[in-house]
Amino acid sequence: MSRPYVLASCAVSLDGYLDDAGPERLILSNDADLNRVNAERAGVDAILVGAETVRRDDPRLLVRDPARLRPVEPIKVCLTTSGDLDPAARFFTDGDVPKIVYCPSDRADALIAALPATVVGLGPAPLDLTAVLDDLGARGVRRLLVEGGGWVLTQFLVADLADELHLAIAPVIVADERAPRFSRPGPTSAKPGGRLRLAEVRQLGDVVLLRYLPAR
Ligand SMILES: NC(=O)c1ccc[n+]([C@@H]2O[C@H](COP(=O)([O-])OP(=O)(O)OC[C@H]3O[C@@H](n4cnc5c(N)ncnc54)[C@H](OP(=O)(O)O)[C@@H]3O)[C@@H](O)[C@H]2O)c1
Repeated sequence: MSRPYVLASCAVSLDGYLDDAGPERLILSNDADLNRVNAERAGVDAILVGAETVRRDDPRLLVRDPARLRPVEPIKVCLTTSGDLDPAARFFTDGDVPKIVYCPSDRADALIAALPATVVGLGPAPLDLTAVLDDLGARGVRRLLVEGGGWVLTQFLVADLADELHLAIAPVIVADERAPRFSRPGPTSAKPGGRLRLAEVRQLGDVVLLRYLPAR
C-alpha cells in the first residue's frame, strides 16, 4: 500500500507564530503567497488540518481561483481526539468534495451520527499518523497537503513523515505566549527529527518562502 507524498505547509510570523491570540485569524501571507498556496492546493488530492484549526479558523479548504479549479477538488481531512467539531463548520458545508474525519475508534459511532463526513475510527488516541497516511493511500490519495495547525505540523515533522516543508515567513511580530506556535509540544513525547535540507529560498513580495526537504 503506498502512502501519499506529504507536503507540510504554513505561514509563520518572524517570531514563529501561526496566528495571534485574538478571535480573528491573523493573515500572515500576502497575495502572492496566497496564490502560491492556492496552486499547491490545486495540485494535491487531499488537504489535512487539525480540529483546532477547524474550530478557530473555520477554513473552507477549497481551491479559490476558478481558473485553477480541477474536475475534482482535493478532499478535506481532519484529525480529532475529542470529536468537538461543529457540523455547520465550513470544513463540512463548503465544497462538493468528500470530507474525512479521523478519530479514535471509541469516538467513531458518536461522530458518524453527528457529522456530515466519512468518519474513520483508527485505534487509540492519539492517532497513529502512519495509519492515517496508509488509510488515505488506500483511498487513492497520492499527494497530501498538511496545512496545520501547529500540533499537527509538529507531529508530521518530528515523525519524519513530511516529504517537503514549505515555510512562508511573514514580516510580522506576534510576541504573545497565548498564540499558537508553528512547532509546539503535544501530549505525545516526540524526538526532534534530523537537520532538514534547504532546497529553495523564494521571495514573494515581503514574504520569504523556505522550501525544505527531509534529512533522509
Ligand atoms: N499560519 C498558518 O499557515 C496556519 C495554518 C493552519 C492553522 N493555523 C493556526 O493554527 C492554530 C491551531 O493550531 P493548534 O496547534 O492549536 O491545533 P491544530 O494542530 O490545528 O489541531 C490540534 C487538534 O487536532 C487534533 N489532533 C492533532 N493530532 C492528532 C492525533 N495524532 N490524533 C488525534 N487527534 C489529533 C486534536 O483535536 P481535538 O482537540 O478535537 O481532540 C488536537 O487538539 C490556529 O490558530 C490556526 O489559525 C495557522
